[in-house]
Amino acid sequence: MNSSPAKPQQPRSKQIRIGLAGLGKFGCNHAEILAHCPEAELAAVCDTDTTALEKQLERHPQSRGYQSFNDLIADPQLDAIVIATPEHLHHEHALAAIRAGHSVFLEKPMASSLQDAEELRQASRAASVILQIGFVLRYEASHAKLKQEIDTGSFGEIISIRAKRNCSRQWARFHLDYGHTIYETLIHDLDLMLWLTNSQPERVMAMERKPKTYQYSEALSALIHFKNGSLGVVESSWFVPEGSPLNVTTATWQGTIDAELEVVGSQRTAKLRLLDAPLQIWSEQASQSIDVGLWPLLHGSIGGALRDELYDFVRCVREQRTSTIANLDDAVEGLRMAEAIQSAAASGSVLKLPNQ
Ligand SMILES: NC(=O)c1ccc[n+]([C@@H]2O[C@H](COP(=O)([O-])OP(=O)(O)OC[C@H]3O[C@@H](n4cnc5c(N)ncnc54)[C@H](O)[C@@H]3O)[C@@H](O)[C@H]2O)c1
Repeated sequence: MNSSPAKPQQPRSKQIRIGLAGLGKFGCNHAEILAHCPEAELAAVCDTDTTALEKQLERHPQSRGYQSFNDLIADPQLDAIVIATPEHLHHEHALAAIRAGHSVFLEKPMASSLQDAEELRQASRAASVILQIGFVLRYEASHAKLKQEIDTGSFGEIISIRAKRNCSRQWARFHLDYGHTIYETLIHDLDLMLWLTNSQPERVMAMERKPKTYQYSEALSALIHFKNGSLGVVESSWFVPEGSPLNVTTATWQGTIDAELEVVGSQRTAKLRLLDAPLQIWSEQASQSIDVGLWPLLHGSIGGALRDELYDFVRCVREQRTSTIANLDDAVEGLRMAEAIQSAAASGSVLKLPNQ
């Protein structure tokens, strides 16, 4: 949905009643945030895994629990659905929720193919509901500030953007058979490039290193030429050593995301490095780079970009409008880029993207 939805303005209770599906490593964060949101109620939670479901019901006893996604979306007491289930279920779950008349917040990636993403966009428009995709970096303070600066025009022309997102070696075992890195990690950077250049991709080139024992690339580099002349460079690999400074340290999730972003404008240059967090803690065992921008647990609740993103979604549902920060068309365009990069890497050819 791009403009105000046609859904009739219904009288709404003060709080938006949310149903959350997927209570794994990341969905737990959504549950915490929604439970603390003054404008929302974590009315229902859903997971096929009974242990995960029971754990969250214990933590949020006011919520109703469902093991079936279809039962969740059939709950007549819900205003919106937040989906943090695995990637391969995003299309099926979001489509079912939209067709049941719900507004949807869907974790990235939007879908596993461009065709599925297009279908979700069409379905949300047809149902006049909000569909917002979880590109959390748009809400992270440093990235948001950079966007604001670029939009003043002070960078001049955007000449190039270089983005790196390398991840812990220990995660490779799981991820390299789970999904292609362009959808798993670099999709964030493709979205940032669309947002920061305010342009669309025209051609892509890519190369990858395929492991013998896993399905997807263990290292990928891609070049993107945008219609406005900006150049994009993205790279990702799964070899960050275990002794590297930790910046992801939750009970279920430990490791390092070594991410960097450099924007070269004709007038100014910006550099951002995730591991340069202002708070560094060293011990005999490890050195930690403490994230306070993305989803820090502070004073008993989760703050930062993830909170701001979900609160933005809740506010959009309350006010029946689309977000001014998240952009559904960019999410679809990101998948178009991802698909082109995956094909270019597989074929070794330069791919021209059709005009949109
Ligand atoms: N925005 C970000 O920076 C970011 C970071 C991490 C994860 N994510 C995204 O969040 C999503 C979840 O990731 P995760 O790491 O929590 O995965 P996870 O595997 O830890 O959790 C997924 C949960 O979904 C449940 N599930 C599976 N099938 C289901 C079904 N049919 N109905 C209901 N529940 C079902 C699983 O039992 C599991 O508890 C993914 O899309 C991932 O890409 C986004």
